Order: sequence, then C-alpha cells, then structure tokens
Amino acid sequence: MPNDPHESRHLPPAGDGAAAAFALRLLTVRRATEALTRGLSAEDCALQSMPDASPVKWHLAHTTWFFEQFVLGPHAPGYRPFRVEFGYLFNSYYEAVGPRHPRPQRGLLSRPSLDEVFAYRAHVDAALEAFIASGAVPAPLWSVLELGLHHEQQHQELILTDLAHLFSVSPLAPAWRASLPPAGRAPAVPATWLDVPEGVHTLGHAVSEGFAFDNEGPAHRVFVEAAQVASRPVSNGEYAAFVAAGGYRDASLWMSEGWAQVQQHGWDAPARWQRDADGAPWRTRTLAGLRDLDPAEPVCHLSWFEADAYARFAGARLPTEAEWELVARRYPAIGTFVESGRGHPAPMTDGPAIRFFGDVWEWTASAYAPYPGFAPAAGAIGEYNGKFMANQMVLRGGSCATPRSHIRATYRNFFPTHARWQFSGVRLARDHRR
Ligand SMILES: [Fe+2]
Repeated sequence: MPNDPHESRHLPPAGDGAAAAFALRLLTVRRATEALTRGLSAEDCALQSMPDASPVKWHLAHTTWFFEQFVLGPHAPGYRPFRVEFGYLFNSYYEAVGPRHPRPQRGLLSRPSLDEVFAYRAHVDAALEAFIASGAVPAPLWSVLELGLHHEQQHQELILTDLAHLFSVSPLAPAWRASLPPAGRAPAVPATWLDVPEGVHTLGHAVSEGFAFDNEGPAHRVFVEAAQVASRPVSNGEYAAFVAAGGYRDASLWMSEGWAQVQQHGWDAPARWQRDADGAPWRTRTLAGLRDLDPAEPVCHLSWFEADAYARFAGARLPTEAEWELVARRYPAIGTFVESGRGHPAPMTDGPAIRFFGDVWEWTASAYAPYPGFAPAAGAIGEYNGKFMANQMVLRGGSCATPRSHIRATYRNFFPTHARWQFSGVRLARDHRR
C-alpha cells in the first residue's frame, strides 16, 4: 500500500554496523535526558505543580518504561523487569497495556527514590544495549526502538516545560540554568511578509523521508489559497503593546470561550509575566529565574485564545498548518533548541531574518485532526497520537526546549486551546491582498 504511513518503519537499519550505530544514537539520547537534570535536587525532580505537568522523576522513569514495555519485556530473551510495579506507576495513557497510577497523583510518588529511578534507567539501558548487540532484534521492532528514541526526546522537552512551570510557582524563583545574559532593550528586527503560493500542494510526511510520527502522514494534497505569513514570531514588545492597549479587557477580540477563560482566571498578560504595579516594567519567570522582559524575544506561554486574540488585534489571523508548512519547509531549521542550554527563547535582534524553527511553538488555526488516509498502528502503540485527535489545536516549529534533531517542517504538536505552560507563541498570517 503506497500510502501506508508505517511502511518505512519495518525496515531494520541497513548496512554493517548500523545496529551498533543505532545503539550509540539511542544511548546518546538517553544520556542527554539525564544531563537535563544536572544540578536539580531530588525534591526538584519529585514535585508536580499541576495535573497537566509531571515530575521530572516520572519522565525519567516513564521513558524507560516505554522500552521495557514495548521492546524488552515482550521481545528480549530472558529479560527480567526491574520492578514489576513500575508497569503500573509509569504507564502514561495506554489503555491496552492496563491500569495506571492517576496522572494528577504523579507528584505523590516519594518512592521510588530518584536514585532508584536512575538505577532503573541503567538496568534498561544495559538490557537494550545487549539486546541490540545480540542481533536478535526482529525486523518490525526497529520501528518501535526508533519510536522510543523520539519519545524520549519528546519527554526531554516536557522535563523542561514541566520544570519551568514548577519553578514559576515558587516564591524563590529558582533557576535551572542561570547562564542567560541580561535582557536587552532593543526591539526585534521588523517582520516581513512571505508569500504562500496559491495552488494544490503535497503536504505531510512521505515515507521516504525518514522517521516521522504517524500523525505527520500520509503525505496528501491540499488546495491552499494565496496568503502571506510573517517572517518571524510575534515579539514580547509587540505583544506588550496589545496588553497596554487593553487587549485583555476588550471582549470583541476574543473567542467566546477564550473571553470566559480571561474572566475566570483573571488573565491580564501572558503566563509568567509580572510587575510590581500598573505601568511598572514587566518581568517574566524563566528557567533562568525572574528576568526583565526582553522586547525582542518571541512572546511565549500563550494559550491558543491569546494567540488568536492578538492576531485579531493586529489585523491578521493565525496561519493554517498547511500555510505554515508550505513556507517553513523552504528554510533551514535554524533557531534556539534545547542544546543551547538557554531554556528560553532568544532575542530576534540578529541572526537569520526568517525564523520558523526553535524558540517557541507556534499556534496554528488548524484543529488537530487526522490527515486523509491516516490509520493508527494496531495495538497499544496505536494509542500514541491518534486517540488525541479531538478538541486540540496544532502547533508547529519546535521550541527552545526541543532537541534540534527532533524537529521537522511536518512535525505536528498539539495542545488544548487553554494550555499556556508550553513555550507557545504566535506567528501572524493574512489573506492575500488582491
Ligand atoms: Fe510518553
């Protein structure tokens, strides 16, 4: 079946040494996860600041459970689970696997200790390395191993986003890394408009292009009207003008449900913005602690409702994911990623004038829905993405917490419209001016 999104995933690594190369790549990713926790205390790693966020310790264990559950347990001869109870504790949402510890109670797990979770990781890493080296990996399992690697990278981002939320509610304003230079005062380079060519285009991930999550395919044709998208995301300085102009007090700019959120939660600025008094300069909680607001950084920690209201205020709209992908794929994935160690978007004062990747995820106008021909895989792995295709919106481009090797022009992230704790920002689009 030429359009089978899973077709390419049943191929084992090609060539001599390919299995060893994969093992090296996998273990490098696993070490990178652990490096993110350097300098954190066991308490930092154990707390859960809200139901949507998970403790760092849980992420460390859950990514490990993934390999134990889907690779080692069913396929590695003689594999012994580290502790059988972990199957209950660290299953995230896989109904086909069985019952699990309630998500809002992940922060109540004082046991296993952080040390024991690291021992769990070492146990599973050693077993994975031996299994791959044994030559006994059945061909269909390579796709699951590859998925596990990318799953691990997804949770690297979540470790930082969830930690950032945890630190943002601490009166002490702790820092994960205190390495950022002071916030600048210069505005971002001016945005320009980039043309979206009208016509029928093929979008989405083709099986010949290497790894992608199932929700990125199949490649399919879309008719796109002529339009324009901005060359960079909206900056803090631009968004601050919306705040100062009363954007959070003008119901006409908001979707009904978004306006209800503004009222219910008292939103008057993006999440983590704070100031000492009306008219005082804004500061913002970051992974580098409390900082002055840099007007040239992309605005982040916006809900979809805020992104949408800002676009309306600016006389524009959000791009569809087709418009975004069509233009973004013309440009290299240059931007601020997790490897930068910033844990925060970078100011848009120099560097490339056109930016689509890294720094902040960009909300789109597109609902998260299956592409034509999408079919989730059989079994528990099929629960990975497909069952979330309702009541969420697509975000594109990756963020300062995303691993560089993890992002692609076809990558579809998704969150509910009210979610603000990711590094989520906004890019403007507009219909073609005839
Ligand atoms: Fe997961």
